[in-house]
Amino acid sequence: MSTLLITGGTVVSSTGRSLADVLVDGEKIVAVLAPGSTLLGHDLAGSVDTVIDATGKYVVPGGIDAHTHFELPFGGTEASDTFESGTTAAAWGGTTSVIDFAVQTTGQRIETGLATWHEKAAGNAVVDYGFHQIIGGVDEHSLKSMETLLDEGISSFKLFMAYPGVFMSDDAQILKAMQKAAELGLLTMMHAENGPAIDVLAQQLYDQGKTTPYFHGVARAWQMEEEATHRAIMLADLTESPLYVVHVSAKQAVAQIAAARDRGKNVFGETCPQYLYLSLEEQLGATGDPTWGDFEGAKWVCSTPLRSRADGHQDAMWQGLRTNDLQMVSTDHCPFCMKDQKELGRGDFRAIPNGIGTIEHRMDLMYQGVVTGEITLERWVELTSTTPARMFGLYGTKGVIAPGADADVVVYDPAGHTSIGIGEGRTHHMNMDHSAWEGYEIDGHVDVVVSRGTVLVSDGEFHGRAGHGNYLKRGLTQYLV
Ligand code: URP
Ligand code: ZN
Ligand code: ZN
Ligand code: ZN
Repeated sequence: MSTLLITGGTVVSSTGRSLADVLVDGEKIVAVLAPGSTLLGHDLAGSVDTVIDATGKYVVPGGIDAHTHFELPFGGTEASDTFESGTTAAAWGGTTSVIDFAVQTTGQRIETGLATWHEKAAGNAVVDYGFHQIIGGVDEHSLKSMETLLDEGISSFKLFMAYPGVFMSDDAQILKAMQKAAELGLLTMMHAENGPAIDVLAQQLYDQGKTTPYFHGVARAWQMEEEATHRAIMLADLTESPLYVVHVSAKQAVAQIAAARDRGKNVFGETCPQYLYLSLEEQLGATGDPTWGDFEGAKWVCSTPLRSRADGHQDAMWQGLRTNDLQMVSTDHCPFCMKDQKELGRGDFRAIPNGIGTIEHRMDLMYQGVVTGEITLERWVELTSTTPARMFGLYGTKGVIAPGADADVVVYDPAGHTSIGIGEGRTHHMNMDHSAWEGYEIDGHVDVVVSRGTVLVSDGEFHGRAGHGNYLKRGLTQYLV
């Protein structure tokens, strides 16, 4: 067991900050001390194996990205990051835990889908990982199997109101699954978009010759998100099941979540960096363009879609994060290359695999909210680490710098700089042939990344290895009001 001391930095939690030294023994944090403290008469810096000087830098709990899709079979292809490449990129960006989605499809047993995900991940992950369960086919078997999820370390599951014929559950299935969730204390995660109505709109647009990526966003109108969010909230209310709405992008959906919370309901919302920074017109390029944008826009085809800046959705997401109407920022990391993957939908936006890759950049992108004054430093830590830990039953072990917690620590340099992208001199470790964030310039830099006491990144070098990451058996959510 080796010892590590992180000295001179400003330790930031969700509730405050202070100058402190962090002492690590083996995989655990054992003390958070006044700067320069001795321990039982011993000079710490002289007694530990490794000293990391964090003077002038922030020392924060490792990021937790609670929404990723590694190797997801989707849209006629498979998400391009493996557990190894995806968690490597996560580590580079200061994320030391991920929660991926194991998939059960219609007619398949949950146990089978879950076993497949364990096979993908075991021995391959560079950082710790847990699973949510996607239930793509709610039937008597999957309802029964929900009873065993908690024993498997899975306290949350995802249903889809979108993607008819693929993952979608109808209202009857949602109601039954939520009743079961309420009984078991499981957290229902919802992809809230009205899939059948979207499919009609998409077909009509296609029939009018509107086939470019831009029209993916047009078909997935905000009304489709607001309606489904409202319906999910009502079903959750009826069943007294807590509800977590994933990848919220419409301001009207935030308003639905806020209204439910104002009624005292256990309804939570997650947004993603793409909905804070990017927009339908800028990325999918249609404004004033008679060709309605070109195929480059496929890079940003995701669901829910990027929305119009003129309508103020991005500002509403930032505001939601400030007011706690939205509690979390995950990436919904679901990468596809342009070549052979996104290109499947050239000439028909409906066939473009849905998803954006962001896992590497979430901590940096969210730190920009601190730089611009949208959120506080403490809120940055809360959104990216502490709340994900509490929401998904990991808090205490993860999400905090305190004695007894796993030594998952990031040294973040506010005076550093990061250029994102695949271009020369930029950073990009995700298995994609493009970056959705090409050319983004970040004030700040992930300097050192420690996972369970092991230094994964330092001095711009990678020291991580596949197999270091452990499976995280999660408990029940610790976030209910
Ligand atoms: O476009 C997206 N979001 N792809 C990933 C699957 C999902 O719905 O989360
Ligand atoms: Zn989704
Ligand atoms: Zn997703
Ligand atoms: Zn640096």
